[in-house]
Amino acid sequence: MNIVCIGGGPAGLYFALLMKKLGAHHDITVVERNKPYDTFGWGVVFSDQTLDNMRQWDPETAEEVQQAFNHWDDIELHFKGRMIRSGGHGFVGIGRKKLLNILQARCEQLGVKLVFEQDADDLDYPDADLIIASDGINSRIRNRTPEVFQPDIVTRPNRYIWLGTNRLYDAFTFLFEKTEHGWFQAHVYKFDEQTSTFIVECPEHVWLAHGLDKADQQASIEFCEKLFAKNLQGEKLMTNARHLRGSAWLNFQRVKCANWSHFNGHSHVVLMGDAVHTAHFAIGSGTKLALEDAIELVRQFKRLGDTADHIPEVLQQYQAVREIDVIRLQNAAWNAMEWFEVCGERYCDQLEPEQFMYSMLTRSQRISHENLRLRDKAWLEGYEAWFAARTAAPGTKPPMFTPYTLRSVTLKNRVVVSPMAQYSAVDGRVGDYHLVHLGARAMGGAGLVMVEMTAPSMDGRITHGCPGLWNDTQTADFKRITDWVHTQSDAKIGLQIGHAGPKGSTCRPWQGAGMDQPMAADDPEGNWPLLAASSQPYLPHGIVPQAMSRADMDRVTADFVTSTRRAAQAGFDWLELHCAHGYLLSSFISPLTNQRTDAYGGSLENRLRYPLEVFAAVRAAWPKDLPMSVRISAHDWVEGGITPADAVEIARAFKAAGVDMIDCSSGQVSAKQRPTYGRMYQTPFADRIRQEAHIPTIAVGAISEADHVNSILAAGRADLCAVARPHLANPAWTLTEAARIGFTDIAWPRAYGSGKPQLEAGFARERALQTATKGD
Ligand SMILES: Cc1cc2nc3c(=O)[nH]c(=O)nc-3n(C[C@H](O)[C@H](O)[C@H](O)COP(=O)(O)OP(=O)(O)OC[C@H]3O[C@@H](n4cnc5c(N)ncnc54)[C@H](O)[C@@H]3O)c2cc1C
Ligand SMILES: Cc1cc2nc3c(=O)[nH]c(=O)nc-3n(C[C@H](O)[C@H](O)[C@H](O)COP(=O)(O)O)c2cc1C
Repeated sequence: MNIVCIGGGPAGLYFALLMKKLGAHHDITVVERNKPYDTFGWGVVFSDQTLDNMRQWDPETAEEVQQAFNHWDDIELHFKGRMIRSGGHGFVGIGRKKLLNILQARCEQLGVKLVFEQDADDLDYPDADLIIASDGINSRIRNRTPEVFQPDIVTRPNRYIWLGTNRLYDAFTFLFEKTEHGWFQAHVYKFDEQTSTFIVECPEHVWLAHGLDKADQQASIEFCEKLFAKNLQGEKLMTNARHLRGSAWLNFQRVKCANWSHFNGHSHVVLMGDAVHTAHFAIGSGTKLALEDAIELVRQFKRLGDTADHIPEVLQQYQAVREIDVIRLQNAAWNAMEWFEVCGERYCDQLEPEQFMYSMLTRSQRISHENLRLRDKAWLEGYEAWFAARTAAPGTKPPMFTPYTLRSVTLKNRVVVSPMAQYSAVDGRVGDYHLVHLGARAMGGAGLVMVEMTAPSMDGRITHGCPGLWNDTQTADFKRITDWVHTQSDAKIGLQIGHAGPKGSTCRPWQGAGMDQPMAADDPEGNWPLLAASSQPYLPHGIVPQAMSRADMDRVTADFVTSTRRAAQAGFDWLELHCAHGYLLSSFISPLTNQRTDAYGGSLENRLRYPLEVFAAVRAAWPKDLPMSVRISAHDWVEGGITPADAVEIARAFKAAGVDMIDCSSGQVSAKQRPTYGRMYQTPFADRIRQEAHIPTIAVGAISEADHVNSILAAGRADLCAVARPHLANPAWTLTEAARIGFTDIAWPRAYGSGKPQLEAGFARERALQTATKGD
């Protein structure tokens, strides 16, 4: 085959040499517009794993790269006058020039033609069977036919400049400096015996405020030298991007493409490396992706046949395989990138250096608490002790098992059994079912057990099976449960009080076609009329609710207040007001469900007015020494609905009204929602609200392991973690998870004592086996 690689970066060169190795008869040319030793940038990092992969495909290159590598293990943070260092992170760094020179030399050795100082286009090579568009992030080949490749390019808000220095750093170093306009950070690492890469980054508004948009490269360098003078210890910063005109400060662009290849009328053209996808430098994987693209394309030629007739199938397989890896990495890179974009606003001023370090290390959400323990046990245990020292129980224990105090209530640990409707009440009364259900979970180790949404009035229920608290009998029924929990366990028990509003009068989930389905008009149990902010049904075929009048509001507020008094009489320790999931109070907050034109509709301030009125009335009726949380939907997941930024405003308003804690759920406000599910997917809302509205938060949603809980709490993303579905599978979820991670300093119910050592021994064996097999 006749193959031309346009662009002699890592992708083009590495593909060329691997392909030539696969078949020496292939005629392969790499065309590069720069001179051989003329490249931008300084060092790049990648992991040991990438090198192992390279070793399998061309041991000669891998050996040379390995010789040139600088290996280091530690990450060091310089922040607010402190230096914190943790180990076990295993990176390798190499000069970009050095890497390219190794690849160039190997290409020449194998007989690849290298053509330098030639600006090329895919149409310049009509005889080529295959053209590799390895022409980097601004790929002209990709951009010339956007309708074919369908690039999706997002320009990110931060500015960065890629510099070098002769000051040598023996760890991957992060420097943070605050100026009168905001925070700057530097990502620094040594990549050869004389030089370190020094990337400086800041938000656009900080960059503009310092006039850096008008600064030329020299002025920018002088600015950075002054800013990081203490750390640079007299060394200079240097640029090698003289080819960039004007300011050398760039915005990162995230690139992904729907199609990676096409036929241009003469040749098959395929995108590779940065031309088809980019990964932010916060995760340092751009070069790895470029090299692995090259490997995969060659692997497909090897597998399917390296003749021109196989090209279409090879290209199709190449995209199918690589796309999955790329998306995974881009997702992790996205989290890490966002962390650096918001850290100035969200973390730098809020977190103490120890917690800031933890938050930074776990920024991609791929490194968890237990993973940090494997990397550097001593550092993690030191951090656990730091965290615990800020609670009523100093010592070394995982954050999940530290106590938490709000008003007069101390929870023994940070796990909450999230409220979960059971649809098993009769006439709004809880019975033996609830005693067993809630009692079992109270014995299961969680610090706080929340009762499902309980209605302040008969018409506030979701279904005929939902509980209520509007009469003496119901109060006594609940008292039986709270008494049992208080005498038989050391868990606290809370009530979630809420009015179903437009989502009321529905079937139990197992009766209809799933959740939220309206009852048939002639259902023998009987429907009831609904109230909402506006007369808009939740589902198109649902009962149309009546928009609340002032009198309706007064009645419902009064019901909430009476219910609250009853909750106090019933002995609850904690009260949560349900303002989420499209129910009555939520229907006021979201612009999707509130179309009112009076003082309760329109602006967010107006939409919050009624929920805040209810909260104020309820708070006044609830004992002063007991805590109150509010559950909100922090994201409607619908265009035009509540966004996480709105959620910060909502939290601020509730905080000002006296709410102790925000329980950060999302969605279920509109049937049109398109949530992005995933591990801990709602935790970013809890994090943002906690740091920006300065109020404690509960994280909830797909938190299913102790490792998740510890990572969330340790990074300061939330104060408590609510766990719902895992508690349906296992009432003793907390006790089980403690045993799983080897934390044994936890009390079990007296009568269950003999189960504890057995469970712990079983998990200990499992961990030992895992460690042993990892060593094989
Ligand atoms: C600040 C910063 C820090 C980074 N840090 C890291 C890191 O630590 N680790 C990591 O793995 N990655 C890092 N990267 C990313 C990494 O540099 C790229 O992902 C990687 O170089 C991609 O390789 P590539 O071959 O696809 O493209 P490139 O390396 O960009 O190569 C493309 C080549 O094509 C040439 N070219 C373009 N157009 C033409 C044309 N028309 N004709 C001829 N030649 C052309 C260019 O001159 C260039 O040499 C970083 C990037 C930046 C910006
Ligand atoms: C069966 C069931 C019933 C639920 N009922 C309620 C409820 O009454 N009130 C509420 O705020 N959330 C309710 N939820 C939502 C959960 O509290 C929780 O927010 C959600 O399930 C995500 O957590 P998970 O991933 O740990 O399950 C319910 C969830 C389930 C699975």
